[in-house]
Amino acid sequence: MEHVKANSRRPWVVGVSGASGTPYAASVLRALLAAGEAVDLVVSRASRLTLLDETGIPLRDAHWREDLEEWLARGADGKPDTFGGIGLDDVRYWPAGDLAAGPSSGSYPVKGMIIVPASTACVAGVALGLSKDLLQRAASVTLKERRPLIVAVRETPLNGQTLKHLVTLDEAGAVVLPASPAFYAGATHIQDLVDFVAGRTLDAAGVPHTLYRRWEGELGGGSRESG
Ligand SMILES: Cc1cc2nc3c(=O)[nH]c(=O)nc-3n(C[C@H](O)[C@H](O)[C@H](O)COP(=O)(O)O)c2cc1C
Repeated sequence: MEHVKANSRRPWVVGVSGASGTPYAASVLRALLAAGEAVDLVVSRASRLTLLDETGIPLRDAHWREDLEEWLARGADGKPDTFGGIGLDDVRYWPAGDLAAGPSSGSYPVKGMIIVPASTACVAGVALGLSKDLLQRAASVTLKERRPLIVAVRETPLNGQTLKHLVTLDEAGAVVLPASPAFYAGATHIQDLVDFVAGRTLDAAGVPHTLYRRWEGELGGGSRESG
């Protein structure tokens, strides 16, 4: 019998959909790469609008590497070149319309998928199994393969339909993670609030990080240290 050669690359698929909150995606991407994780990135068509709106950066398929570099260097407050030294060697970029891409098949090896931020349209599409683009198809594949799926939904208020879709995702095994920052970790800047949500997202994926200070069982600990 031939030896089975292990495919060592097992990335996280990161889907960025068209909800507000592209800084959450940037923080998750930076932390995954810092943790030594490989990333397969899928950016929906609509999220190019939110990215443009929130950062001024156009994400172009043909120039994704330089655009992504600029995006990941940007702070949540919009300041360019806030973060440096982010290597993109472990990133594979798939255009959202490429339904023949690796993550569209269950036989393509991945650890799981993180959708950050997740729009209500994306939540609906994944709950109903629409697979209208690569992002939604990859999410459906993640569920059918029983792999971890984390859905960082961003909308407020939520209508009944979205709430039902979120219950469907929960029942299908996904982690529904509202992009909802907490204030106990001593945040003093926008970046701290963004990193809290990104950190909880990585917690759900089981990826180690130092994005926020964890609760240690003492009231007022966060405000004392940051003050
Ligand atoms: C500037 C901007 C901000 C938006 N913010 C949200 C949002 O926070 N949550 C949401 O569910 N949809 C939001 N939308 C609407 C989605 O982009 C829209 O429903 C789109 O169809 C989502 O497509 P996608 O899931 O394929 O990315 C926003 C749209 C724009 C242009």
